[in-house]
Amino acid sequence: MDIKITKVAPEKMKPKPTDESKLGFGQIFTDHFFIVEYETGKGWYNASIEPYRPLILDPAVMCLHYGQLIFEGMKAYRGKDGSVYLFRPGENIKRMNESAVRLCMQPVDEDLFMDALVKLVTVEKEWIPRGIGTSLYIRPTMIATETALGVHPSNKYLFYIIAGPVGAYYPEGFSPTKIYVSEEYVRAVRGGVGYCKAAGNYAASLYASQKASDLGYTQVLWLDAIEMKYVEEVGTSNIFFLIGDELITPPLTGSILPGVTRDSIIRLAKDWKINISERQLSMDEILDAYTDGTLKDCFASGTAAIVSPVGQIYYKGREYVINDGKTGELTERLYNEILQIQYGEKEDPFGWRVKISD
Ligand code: COI
Repeated sequence: MDIKITKVAPEKMKPKPTDESKLGFGQIFTDHFFIVEYETGKGWYNASIEPYRPLILDPAVMCLHYGQLIFEGMKAYRGKDGSVYLFRPGENIKRMNESAVRLCMQPVDEDLFMDALVKLVTVEKEWIPRGIGTSLYIRPTMIATETALGVHPSNKYLFYIIAGPVGAYYPEGFSPTKIYVSEEYVRAVRGGVGYCKAAGNYAASLYASQKASDLGYTQVLWLDAIEMKYVEEVGTSNIFFLIGDELITPPLTGSILPGVTRDSIIRLAKDWKINISERQLSMDEILDAYTDGTLKDCFASGTAAIVSPVGQIYYKGREYVINDGKTGELTERLYNEILQIQYGEKEDPFGWRVKISD
């Protein structure tokens, strides 16, 4: 499908941020966005890149009532020589379509999705910041737009992609975070939609996150919803623990998001001959490791923060400080390696980088 491109007049372009150290996350949006419509019987139609604008929606559109709303998060990076790269975009496309299937939404043609990403990032090339740790965050989103209040899968959708320059996700930057183990609230349950990037998962996480934040913690560590025993995710990210010489992350049993960064870490760890396990890990096992001194490192992984060290865990009335509250060696090594691959500063043995412009 052809993508029609209508550019903003130069005098109407937004001013670009001048101080890259103050970008924060998700506050600034570029001049254009991609949008395409879907209707049952007609398929996807009217693909365009056009000036960024508000969407006009009937108050009865289904996404506003029954939550058929999915999204993705990915980034475009600018290398030192000015080249622009995407990182494993095919994985985000695949995951978006898996989310679409689970929420009875309409998968997007993979070639159209990729074409839209490349064209939008190319149009917005000047918005991609230059500093290491900064990037252009890309947010593909799909919403149900049929006007109807009967509960059924929508017959109309909008798929759009917005983008904006970002810096660090957490105000702490790459400093160890404090996390709070929630014994009361859960994020997702096996059989549900936890493995999808469904907006409702994030809504469901807010209450516990707010409580943790009020108590001075950066994020919640989510336990499994059935036994409230095994670690699942942290905040909006995947979680890894280094116990002895075993790097452990929970297995993808349906309630956990299959993170692209998570998968990249597993592949790197295998390449580095680290003993990596995708297995259930209980809080009891973590506390035993803490007591016997084998709990060495802990970090979160996600597209937004890439790798984020965990320095402290609160559980059942006690604080557990990991690695003296400092960033662990493995956390730092993984962070640097992934960043260097993303910015084109290192060889890319796995073929993860997709160069989209010189
Ligand atoms: C990520 O860590 O990549 C996320 O999914 C966070 C995003 C919802 C802001």
